[in-house]
Amino acid sequence: PSHLDIAVIPGDGIGPEVTREAVKVLRAVTGADVELHLTDYELGADHWLATGETLPDTTLEQLRSHDAILFGAVGAAPGDTRVPSGLIEREFLLKLRFSLDHFVNLRPSRLYSGVPSPLAAPGDIDFVVVREGTEGPYTGNGGTLRGGTPHEVATEVSLNTAHGVERVVRDAFMRAAARRGRLTLVHKHNVLVYAGHLWRRTVEAVAVEFPDVTHDYLHVDAAMIFLVTDPSRFDVIVTDNLFGDIVTDLAAAVTGGIGLAASANLNMDRTAPSMFEPVHGSAPDIAGQQLADPTASILSAALLLRHLGLQDPATRIERAVEEDIAARSGRRSTAAVGDAITAMVS
Ligand code: NAD
Ligand code: IPM
Ligand code: MN
Repeated sequence: PSHLDIAVIPGDGIGPEVTREAVKVLRAVTGADVELHLTDYELGADHWLATGETLPDTTLEQLRSHDAILFGAVGAAPGDTRVPSGLIEREFLLKLRFSLDHFVNLRPSRLYSGVPSPLAAPGDIDFVVVREGTEGPYTGNGGTLRGGTPHEVATEVSLNTAHGVERVVRDAFMRAAARRGRLTLVHKHNVLVYAGHLWRRTVEAVAVEFPDVTHDYLHVDAAMIFLVTDPSRFDVIVTDNLFGDIVTDLAAAVTGGIGLAASANLNMDRTAPSMFEPVHGSAPDIAGQQLADPTASILSAALLLRHLGLQDPATRIERAVEEDIAARSGRRSTAAVGDAITAMVS
């Protein structure tokens, strides 16, 4: 496309700091070829404190009209008692993922050369986690009985539908077929019997359509062992919403840190815009000090371009990030990292 219409939601904490750098890079890499139209949306904890709004219906409808959404992070500091825990995360972020049907939460993990991994023998790490994005224990399908009494009962129900599992499993197989042809289902079917069975059956059924993809299964606990002892065994991991959340923070840690981990919330049916964001949160502990690494946000912008069919600028960003990472020494400000990458893609 020669015209790109992107919604930008910087959010809270380091969100605005890292998003500013991603926008710099986006502007530079698209240059004169593409008419880039950016619309900023003020949403997040500060916006809620000022207005009482998390994600009004009118804003949700406006967001639908863009080609894609570039998002930073939301969430108040844990000590901020003015904001109920997780309110913005649920009523803004999860509401967006659910409303825009972001059923594939794609989280690539690569160990770039020159990046120190905390692992003694990391090997070649290059895998993607295909995390289900609209179901599992994230549906708000829980409750409490006899609250505050010694007999209180609290439940969170994990919702798994045949439709929801099948579409994400098929997406993961397609990605595996285009990569090294290995798919690993990560679940916990020894304990989570019903959902586990649905996921296993679905993988077996869809596998028939992909004779060139081999697949295996790991319980999530054992998968975490291999993520540390032998991460190069993984190519595509497919898993549910909650396991995927946990797996991808560990995956980020073993590949050089959460500051490098990008993600895409994809509506693969393209019935609504997809959303691109770092895996990390608002990092209140370092916010406002130019300490955050904007690389995750910049790589998320590359995923955005690729999703919209702009392969060439996406690749240019990824190459520039690779080069920047290889040349790193000492601490640089958030803006300095963004400027360095911007200069390379210009
Ligand atoms: P976090 O990811 O914000 O931070 C975890 C640790 O990683 C912190 O020490 C932080 O300083 C560090 N870190 C994060 N991003 C970094 C970066 N770009 N460069 C360098 N260091 C970085 O997770 P948390 O502390 O558990 O959560 C903080 C808030 O963010 C909470 O309110 C949480 O709910 C929210 N959250 C939001 C999102 C999101 O918006 N997608 C994701 C995760 C957490
Ligand atoms: C993430 C975050 C979110 C999630 C939270 C903030 C709702 O941790 O994007 O990884 O659990 O999906
Ligand atoms: Mn997370």
